[in-house]
Amino acid sequence: MEANKKQFKTLLESIGNTPIVRLDLPVKPTVLAKLEFMNPSGSLKDRAALYMVEEAERLGKLKPGGTIVEATSGNQGIALAMIGAIKGYRVIITVPDRTAVEKIAILRAYGAEVHVCPNAANHDDPQGYHARAEQLLHEIPGAFMPNQYYSKSNAMGHYYSTGPEIWQQTEGKVTHFIAGAGTCGTISGVGQYLKEQNPAVKIIGVDAANSFYSSKEPKTYTVEGLGIDVISETFNQAVVDHVIPITDEDAFNTTRRVAKENGLLVGISSGAVLHVALKYAQQLTENDLVVVILADSGRSYLNKVFIAQQPEPRQAVKSTPHSQERIV
Ligand SMILES: Cc1ncc(COP(=O)(O)O)c(C=O)c1O
Repeated sequence: MEANKKQFKTLLESIGNTPIVRLDLPVKPTVLAKLEFMNPSGSLKDRAALYMVEEAERLGKLKPGGTIVEATSGNQGIALAMIGAIKGYRVIITVPDRTAVEKIAILRAYGAEVHVCPNAANHDDPQGYHARAEQLLHEIPGAFMPNQYYSKSNAMGHYYSTGPEIWQQTEGKVTHFIAGAGTCGTISGVGQYLKEQNPAVKIIGVDAANSFYSSKEPKTYTVEGLGIDVISETFNQAVVDHVIPITDEDAFNTTRRVAKENGLLVGISSGAVLHVALKYAQQLTENDLVVVILADSGRSYLNKVFIAQQPEPRQAVKSTPHSQERIV
């Protein structure tokens, strides 16, 4: 195996350039997974967060020693907390109370201040985490809010990094791109880049079935990362071909299954994306090449997804005349 010879001067330089891996799935097209959990803070959000912070520095919106405030269900906050630790900013993160306890612990480990707010079903709810972040922004002099839900720069972080990497790693052969849709920064930025290279590439977003976008009667949901509850200029609908809703149950079940059957210990949005990919690929051929985003690792959801489940014995794979042992 060839070692990566590049020596990075800072941790921030090591963001991106994640591996892309062929998955062994019972479908006709090639399915390649982009392992975004291998970014230094553990998710795809390192890309967008770094782009947004460095743009704010360039524009003078964030000054040395300043404060970053953001409302996030976790990974954007974790990325900002890591960046803040490296660059010396105070970081305050507001999260909904559906956020996994591990993510809150990680935020605090990076030195961020965390405000846990009720799981409001609506962005304007004064009790919710968005309203709380706005309040803090106004209270703290010189505070900067990346505002991932309302910022085109979020998508640009993916336009300049994730998109070109996928194009190069597939040698321009990608035909379908499937990723979770929360702020829609990923599908919009990657979608714009890939469609500029080849307008025939299909861009598919995976949404929470109970979100404002996918449901006539939006309700709260427990998947994290996914869920289009705001439609703003971050979401470039012109480059997205389909948005496919998924239930909490399907997302959780597939997340558990791929850990056992494929060795992929991934987060719930990745389980959701793989569930959709398996179904969507039924209509595709050997000539198609599907890229899926595995946004973060299952280690952030051990309590929420994995510990609660009953252990299931594996099926016996071998039996001899002397024993009927189960291989557990
Ligand atoms: C685990 C996970 N999956 C998917 C997404 C969705 O990405 P985007 O906000 O770019 O739509 C996020 C966003 O935070 C996430 O944390």
